[in-house]
Amino acid sequence: MISNKMKKLVQNNSIIREMFEEGKKLKDIYGENNVYDFSLGNPSAPPPQKVKESIVKIMEKEDPISLHGYMSNSGFKDVREKIANSINKKFSTNFNFSNIIMTVGAASGLNIVLKSILNPEDEVITIAPYFSEYNNYIQNYDGIVVTVKANEQDFMPNLKEFEQNITSKTKAVLINTPNNPTGVIYSKEILEKISDIMERKQKEYNHEIYLISDEPYRELVYNNIEVPYVTKYYKNTFIVYSYSKSLSLAGERIGYVVIPKEMEDSQEVIEAVTIANRIIGSVNAPSLMQKVIAECIEEKIDLESYKKNRDLLYEIVINCGFKCVKPQGAFYLFVKTPIDDDKEFCKIAKKYNLLFVPASSFSYPGYVRIAYCVSYDMIERSRSAFIALSKEFINN
Ligand SMILES: Cc1ncc(COP(=O)(O)O)c(C=O)c1O
Repeated sequence: MISNKMKKLVQNNSIIREMFEEGKKLKDIYGENNVYDFSLGNPSAPPPQKVKESIVKIMEKEDPISLHGYMSNSGFKDVREKIANSINKKFSTNFNFSNIIMTVGAASGLNIVLKSILNPEDEVITIAPYFSEYNNYIQNYDGIVVTVKANEQDFMPNLKEFEQNITSKTKAVLINTPNNPTGVIYSKEILEKISDIMERKQKEYNHEIYLISDEPYRELVYNNIEVPYVTKYYKNTFIVYSYSKSLSLAGERIGYVVIPKEMEDSQEVIEAVTIANRIIGSVNAPSLMQKVIAECIEEKIDLESYKKNRDLLYEIVINCGFKCVKPQGAFYLFVKTPIDDDKEFCKIAKKYNLLFVPASSFSYPGYVRIAYCVSYDMIERSRSAFIALSKEFINN
């Protein structure tokens, strides 16, 4: 029999996966072109051509025994050195290979960080709306999720509430910028304020409170808006990065964690995170993909395609009378539902073959997430469905 913990998880299986299955069902009934599935965050821009070229080149050039074999749990040293140098060049930081641990995407990066720092009952602050898997990752290590709501006008954390929720049990604060699902980016000013509060609270409680910055969308920003590098604002910061979105390699499971030497007891933390990588069962990040990353470190996907999608979908949504903050990054619109019950709104949208994710699953009811990592054509085709949906609620 499965464990009680898993029983609960099976019962509450992710709503996003459910939507995925629902989408497939609707497509079988109505045909691929008549279903508008905006539920999944799977990249729609192809990986850069250099990814394929690098795979071929590496396979031809490298010794297969060492290429495909086990390695240090933190990954290939030369790859980590290249990543450190690339970050240093862009953000004037001072990392070397030892500050970088290669991971199986951001999901495993978050898990190994949380495994390394949490004792049972330790609290982790999340800023709602947030990626719902955080609940599972924190509970994996018997941590407790404490949620602080972002302000509705700009989706920045409510700093007063944030400060009030830091207690002697707070071990970490988990932020995500650019944000899934809102697309907002934390400015220098907000990071400075978060840092000031956390520094004060560390002193008050006399232990480290870590800032974990989850950054799979770092490269997905529009109009060259700056995404500040969080380690520059707060010493006890982990950066969790991934190539799932930045190089459209979500299925390849590759990313890294940055642990700066300025972090308290950084050597011990680096060792713990490296061991956590092994013992959660990842062992090390995929070897071929690490080598590919080293070749493709400065490559970019076609960001313009996401920007075009964003602009079109935003125009449709706003013209239909819905309310939405225009996202600065990532590939989601976060739209206020005209009725309080976001799940009910999603049910009604389904009548028009429109699939959204209710924001209750991001701990922020009253909104839906509409993912625009889809084809531009699908967005165009969905216009009439959005208009029909809006007529149920809004007098145009
Ligand atoms: C905010 C956020 N964090 C982490 C992840 C996990 O990313 P990865 O594919 O790198 O594990 C996702 C994936 O969608 C995400 O949206």
